[in-house]
Amino acid sequence: MSASTSALFQPITVGDVTLQHRIVMAPLTRFRASDEHVMGELNHEYYEQRASAPGTLIITEATFIAAEAGGYKNAPGIWTEEQIAGWKKIVDTAHAKGSSIYLQLWALGAAGKKEVLAEEGGHPYTGAGDKVFEPFTEPPRPMTVEEIHQFTEFYATASRNAVEKAGFDGVEVHMANGYLLDQFLQTNTNNRTDAYGGSVENRIRFPLAALDAVVAAVGVKRAALRISPWSEFQGMRMDDPIPTFSALVQRVRETHPDLSYIHVIEPRVDGNDVREHVEGEADESNDFVRAIWGDRRIISAGGFSRASGIEAAGKTGDLIAYGRSFIANPDLVRRLKEDLPLNVAERATYYTPGPVGYTDYPFAPAAATFETVPEDEPASHASSISEHTAVSEDHSMKAKTRSQSQRRRRSAMKSVLDVVVSLIREAPFSPARKTHALQAVKA
Ligand SMILES: Cc1cc2nc3c(=O)[nH]c(=O)nc-3n(C[C@H](O)[C@H](O)[C@H](O)COP(=O)(O)O)c2cc1C
Repeated sequence: MSASTSALFQPITVGDVTLQHRIVMAPLTRFRASDEHVMGELNHEYYEQRASAPGTLIITEATFIAAEAGGYKNAPGIWTEEQIAGWKKIVDTAHAKGSSIYLQLWALGAAGKKEVLAEEGGHPYTGAGDKVFEPFTEPPRPMTVEEIHQFTEFYATASRNAVEKAGFDGVEVHMANGYLLDQFLQTNTNNRTDAYGGSVENRIRFPLAALDAVVAAVGVKRAALRISPWSEFQGMRMDDPIPTFSALVQRVRETHPDLSYIHVIEPRVDGNDVREHVEGEADESNDFVRAIWGDRRIISAGGFSRASGIEAAGKTGDLIAYGRSFIANPDLVRRLKEDLPLNVAERATYYTPGPVGYTDYPFAPAAATFETVPEDEPASHASSISEHTAVSEDHSMKAKTRSQSQRRRRSAMKSVLDVVVSLIREAPFSPARKTHALQAVKA
């Protein structure tokens, strides 16, 4: 389908922003912030590259709302002035490029590392309940009600820091992939017996309180949430997720009908990878979320190609988030629009420090480079010749000029491609990435 006719490439409003298309950059943790959880120059360059198509919605990598909510090194935070300043530079650049940017708000709970929490301020290792769940080996301490209230406050402060101080267009509350709020939602991890455990009503209480606090802090149109009802990542996937997640979405519709969007992860994906086949998979679908949420905004994520993104956006009206494709293609929007070949993301460098596998994925060669190659004859001169010659001469002159100019274009293209190929050959890429990049250039 052409770029002009597919819903994927049509403008849409989300919260307070107008986007030029429905291709969204999914949140992608890269562990390249400083030891103080501050984003710097390299991170700035990475986001600048990915904000390059005006009117794109970027959702940042998950960002700690407080030191107490952490437990991983080198993921970003949004609680110190230095962290806010680091993000502000990125936000300003995304805006200067004409794109919009939401911050994903993160608390790890039992997914965090006990020793990192201890090292970075002596914070306790807590979760919803005290179950040991794969891949973790130690039982967390269930959060006290006071801690739940304290974390609710952290969500509010973090969203104010993000929107009022750093200038983000909005914030997305991370309730997916087995982190703290998902641990409260699902029975796999929530074995509490107080007002935050047991019934559906009780399990959705803290996630809703966190969302309420964010909405009160920055306004409903700047708030959003992300869920992954079907994911098995980090020990999740309750037997029947539909009642819990239906109740959550239903309540959000009642209390915050103007929320920016709900972001759902498709059943085919687990965390950062495609899911193994599981029994009953065919019955799994996020259509129950769409049925409750109606024609409000939904972002769908998980395993989308160009073709399936076009199909899904056309069928559901959803925005489509791309994760791994955005890691490998800084110019993903252009590549999807123009149906250009995609670089393939390298798993080995998802989380490694430095620019390799981060800011060194190549942009597709600019078509403009070829179109601005100077012609032999200026256009005005060519047309003045044709005006004073017979029709047949006119045609043959035009054909001659065209073939000369085509030859020059081809030769200019070849020189540009030679430069690109030699740059790729010399680049600090792995052999696999070099092959992909060379294939893309040849295509
Ligand atoms: C390296 C990597 C880091 C990720 N980090 C996050 C994250 O910070 N927050 C989140 O909600 N999902 C995260 N995800 C999941 C993605 O947002 C997305 O849902 C997943 O990659 C599936 O989409 P895709 O098939 O287009 O890659 C991550 C995925 C990858 C590959």
